Amino acid sequence: ALAEELLVPADRVHLKPSHLTFESAAALPLAGLTAFRALTYQGNCQPGEKVLITGFGGGVAQFAAQFAIGLQAEVHVSSSSEDKIQKALGLGVKAGFNYKNENWTDQALEQAGGFDLIIDGAAGDSLNDLIKVANPGGRIVFYGATLGNPGKLEARRIFWNQLKIMGSTMGSDQDFEQMLAFVNEKSIEPIVDQVFSFEKAVEAFDRMKAGKQMGKIVLKP
Ligand SMILES: NC(=O)c1ccc[n+]([C@@H]2O[C@H](COP(=O)([O-])OP(=O)(O)OC[C@H]3O[C@@H](n4cnc5c(N)ncnc54)[C@H](OP(=O)(O)O)[C@@H]3O)[C@@H](O)[C@H]2O)c1
Repeated sequence: ALAEELLVPADRVHLKPSHLTFESAAALPLAGLTAFRALTYQGNCQPGEKVLITGFGGGVAQFAAQFAIGLQAEVHVSSSSEDKIQKALGLGVKAGFNYKNENWTDQALEQAGGFDLIIDGAAGDSLNDLIKVANPGGRIVFYGATLGNPGKLEARRIFWNQLKIMGSTMGSDQDFEQMLAFVNEKSIEPIVDQVFSFEKAVEAFDRMKAGKQMGKIVLKP
């Protein structure tokens, strides 16, 4: 969508939430929709549940954390960055764990006592860490596989603990409408890292490539 003008069918257009600028609203659609469906339709997030959102630096993860807080869950995050964990705590997240620490799963089990719902976009072998920190009967929803496929899977823990592992991708028109209504109701503000002009588009992509951003990068015509 790197264009000054786009022609789309009218039924693809929704009103911008009135509390958001156009730049903030531009950060919302795909990541917000993916997070909302993973958390609500698939994850069935309930008030008071212990929720872990992995990789808080990710765009989907940030919306998932904000939405879970809006749903009155007890939200925890993981991240490779202490700064990002601090940012999450400032938003109302209860605790954060650095997944680069070898013992982060023990720390999470000790502090949170396990999670009822885990939302993940990394998959790979770290899925086994999530299986370890899930409460009996817990749900793990993954919407991405940044780390690829898992090389092994702790099958026994999955059946022994009656876990549900689900996939989720983007969302339906209904999910989108519900997500927008929720953003309006809770006055949720997307975390925007930086707004770049079109002329600086390459710089914007370089920033993303280097993983320096904390929040969405927006391009403005
Ligand atoms: N299914 C869908 O509809 C859909 C939609 C959007 C995205 N996706 C997929 O979801 C994934 C994330 O996308 P995104 O745009 O939200 O992410 P992103 O903005 O590209 O962020 C990537 C983040 O992943 C986190 N990460 C990296 N290694 C990790 C690990 N070992 N454990 C936990 N987190 C880790 C990092 O978090 P920290 O910086 O906090 O360490 C990083 O900031 C991608 O694979 C993408 O293709 C799928």
